[in-house]
Amino acid sequence: MNRTLRYRITGALILSLALAGCGGGGGGGGGPSTPPTTPPGQDPPPSIPRLPDPSTAPPLKEVFPDLRIGAAIEPEQLEDPRDRALLLKHYNSVTPENAMKADTIAPADISVEPPNFERADAIVEFARANDMRVHGHTLVWHTTTPKWFWNRPPGMSDADYRATVEQRLRDYVRTVVSYFRGRVEAWDVVNEVASDNPGEVYRKSQWFQAFSIGGGEGQEYIRIAFEEARAADPEARLFINDYGTENPEKLAKIRQIIDYIEATRKDLVDGVGHQFHLQRTSRPEDVDAALATVASWNKANRVTELDVSIYDDPGDCFVQQRIPPCRANYGPDLASVPQSVVSAHARLYRELFEVFRAHSLAQALEAVTTWGMHDAHTWLNSWPVARTNHPLLFDRDRNPKLTFWAVADSDFAIP
Ligand code: G3I
Repeated sequence: MNRTLRYRITGALILSLALAGCGGGGGGGGGPSTPPTTPPGQDPPPSIPRLPDPSTAPPLKEVFPDLRIGAAIEPEQLEDPRDRALLLKHYNSVTPENAMKADTIAPADISVEPPNFERADAIVEFARANDMRVHGHTLVWHTTTPKWFWNRPPGMSDADYRATVEQRLRDYVRTVVSYFRGRVEAWDVVNEVASDNPGEVYRKSQWFQAFSIGGGEGQEYIRIAFEEARAADPEARLFINDYGTENPEKLAKIRQIIDYIEATRKDLVDGVGHQFHLQRTSRPEDVDAALATVASWNKANRVTELDVSIYDDPGDCFVQQRIPPCRANYGPDLASVPQSVVSAHARLYRELFEVFRAHSLAQALEAVTTWGMHDAHTWLNSWPVARTNHPLLFDRDRNPKLTFWAVADSDFAIP
């Protein structure tokens, strides 16, 4: 069924994208149907396309010349010839998946033990040697803040404790951003600081709680992080990064937080990092609207952690983190997944990249980074449950999937 979808791109510019069979944008199916598997050595049924020779795959960075195309990686992947080749062929930006987080750089108080940049440097030096940009991730995230930030000597007053935590924050951000100055072109300064609770703007993390002590403004840590990052590297692009920004209520909170950060200085926040951890039932028009909204704020957009789970899990799956209500594992490999699901995944990715291309042309979107390169290395193989997922463009053997061809070739027929 053809569907005409209208994407609003920054204001009056309207693009109507006629999409054949927009299975990805609508509701997902129920549980898995009987997967059509092709016995080894036999030709796939006519409805399942034989994919082109992987060696003919066009480099993604050349398919989207107006966007920086990135991937999150770990340093070990630079030692894997297959991953190294994939990275060099398709990407011109890298994001350290974990190597630049505080729990890796500063497991101990940096006023006692020097920070450890070894893992981050491996990625940064590889990128510089291969003319790739580095998007730094992430300076302040409650999930990866080592405990020493919260050390409170017995008897320390509230005022002294808050001042101590503030100084630790300032010292950490300035130390890390100064160290990478000129080598890291952008930073996720803060990650996931907006609340998911209705009516609540700021996540009540340990950062918020520490800065609330003594009646202080709990959210002040956010502005301080941006001030120190800006001071340490005035050239770096500074982003506030979060998930769920395709939800207008969440994005409105991001706007409130940016307004707070910039209440006295308008140059602290360059843009919004949209993680866009999506699933098969996500709607590209919501992604389009989020990018258009941020562009209307005269702020930059970056897609920072794109992946699309092959499963259409219900909301309580992410709360209960078990099967059910999470969808059952389709099976050990991509051939176990029903073709209709594989095709819907490909269609959704095609629509998403058509939205990205439209926004890049309108200068509203700077980069698109996927959270991993291939399905053998993705957090979604263990979140929200341990099961085989297929959220990226390349399969476990690093070969282009149907989803890759749907993105890279607008004429490629999706079955
Ligand atoms: O490196 C240690 C290893 O030495 C140890 O044996 C092992 C078992 O404890 O843990 C390893 O560290 C793990 C690390 O990934 C590297 O594999 C951490 O426990 C684990 O928590 C960490 O998970 C990462 C997670 O962020 C938390 O930092 C995921 O790989 C990473 O994909 C995920 O990425 C986040 C983004 O940074 C922010 N947005 C959400 C996204 C998904 O959660």
